[in-house]
Amino acid sequence: MRTTRSLIDLDDLSAREIDYIFERTADFERERPGRLLDGVACVNMFFEHSTRTMTSFTLAQKRLGADVITIWPKESSLSKGETIEDTAITLAAMGVNVLVIRHPEPGFPRRVALSFDGHVINAGDGGHAHPTQALLDLYTLREEFGDLRGRKIAIVGDILHSRVAHSSIAGLRNLGADVIAVGPPAFLPDEFMQASVRIERDFDAVLEEADAIVLLRIQRERFESMPMTDDEYIAQYRLDSGRLSRLREETIIMHPGPYNRGVELDDSVLEFAGWRYAKQVMHGVSVRMAILDFLINGARALVSP
Ligand code: CP
Repeated sequence: MRTTRSLIDLDDLSAREIDYIFERTADFERERPGRLLDGVACVNMFFEHSTRTMTSFTLAQKRLGADVITIWPKESSLSKGETIEDTAITLAAMGVNVLVIRHPEPGFPRRVALSFDGHVINAGDGGHAHPTQALLDLYTLREEFGDLRGRKIAIVGDILHSRVAHSSIAGLRNLGADVIAVGPPAFLPDEFMQASVRIERDFDAVLEEADAIVLLRIQRERFESMPMTDDEYIAQYRLDSGRLSRLREETIIMHPGPYNRGVELDDSVLEFAGWRYAKQVMHGVSVRMAILDFLINGARALVSP
């Protein structure tokens, strides 16, 4: 890895740095900070589709006064045989400071970071990691509960293929939360989880104890054929009005999006008082502003350990 800081997964950040990013996020939500990225050039390259991550990074960059360029990979010189490494060298030579990259191949952003003399931010690499989504989810949970130690967070569904789940579980464990991973063996193999994460096959068994339920979309683009029928999945794992009625009043429900109505949730979830999806999306812009500010301007208030 080159010396310039990149954000490939959550373990690129210490606990104190995450605290600092969350403090800056709260500052930015209270008051727009102005042109903290004046003269900074950001390129966004998404090799997989995106609505939330692409839009919120673009908004975050523009709100901080950066120069923002979107490269659509199919319309770039990658289609003429240029390698991503040579693309990265070329962009750095133009003075590009930040590359935000989403790609279906796990490890792709880390590979780019080796060639790019600037900051690479992983906007999701295959089923591996999605650190900025994990950070905005953690921020949403911290805003709700404060200290997460001992809080029971149930993550439900296709954990095997979910980059969000992989990054979020690591972050939640670091913050002392009790993580309950819920799903069928095909989406949550026994050997997949660390000892510190409880595996639960029966969604109904966790409804009354969970402080937060994080629902996941089935990542159909990451496997060949569905290991169970949709009807079987829905019967066992969809959060619907019947299951909602068994939650405690203060339980919150989250989803990184995009959500598939009728599969992992039904419409009644969207009316539930504890549904926090809009808050997550809102925090996505300010958390990404704080991440960009941290990478470019450094943790000015943070004393090195
Ligand atoms: N949560 C998330 O990554 O959404 P997008 O795929 O729309 O960016």
